[in-house]
Amino acid sequence: MPRKKYIIANWKMNLSLAQTLSLAKKFKEKFKGFKQAEIAVCPSTLVLADTAKILRHSGIALGAQNVFWQEAGAYTGEVSPAMLSEAGCGYVILGHSERRKYLLENYEIINKKVRAVIKNGELIPIVCIGESSEERKTDRRDFVLVEQLEQAFSGVEIFGNQRIIIAYEPIWAIGTGTAIEPAEAEYAHKIIKLALNDIVGMRLVSQNFNVVYGGSINSKNVKSFADLENMDGLLVGGASLNADEFFKVAKEITK
Ligand code: 13P
Repeated sequence: MPRKKYIIANWKMNLSLAQTLSLAKKFKEKFKGFKQAEIAVCPSTLVLADTAKILRHSGIALGAQNVFWQEAGAYTGEVSPAMLSEAGCGYVILGHSERRKYLLENYEIINKKVRAVIKNGELIPIVCIGESSEERKTDRRDFVLVEQLEQAFSGVEIFGNQRIIIAYEPIWAIGTGTAIEPAEAEYAHKIIKLALNDIVGMRLVSQNFNVVYGGSINSKNVKSFADLENMDGLLVGGASLNADEFFKVAKEITK
């Protein structure tokens, strides 16, 4: 039986609190009885707990877009893995390229977050990696992906059945309306799995890791991603802001 895919909506900072709750209700309605994939939505931190109430018993999981690496203490403005879990989250996005760009998150910080989330053990980290357009043009993509993975997982010990999702998000494809060519995504995902084999070992890669793609996916281009061998799902931005469109994406990728 093929493994279930992960289809994750990253709502970023696009919606007001009221709009988020309204969209969560629409998702709940739309995905009633949908069992073909793991569906998760990642709204703003501020509205996680209220969204969790709406999604209760819906089969749709909740994720956060960020977390801090300490368990508790004097860290003004930050939120711990345990708090996210308490608010109803099962997932957390780490190291999104928008945070790397605007918040200057680097892979040392991302490594601390990966460690903290795995130590906490209650959340599935969605670790984002991906090359810039410049890095791609100068043929450095493979090197960049391997380096980002090495830094993110340096010294990380993975326990039991801890699931870890790697989101391959080429920066140049995010929010542009033009997704990567499926063959290029398949190639990158293969590189990612090979690099992970070296970093954490083949057994953990096959049992604990999944690789999803993110960058300008919509209901029209998603079909050509459905049959890729190393494609375990999608992380969707723009197209996840409309319940009908996101549902079509989910239907197409699980056909
Ligand atoms: P878009 O689907 O809007 O390109 O965003 C992708 C993304 O960044 C998901 O995390």
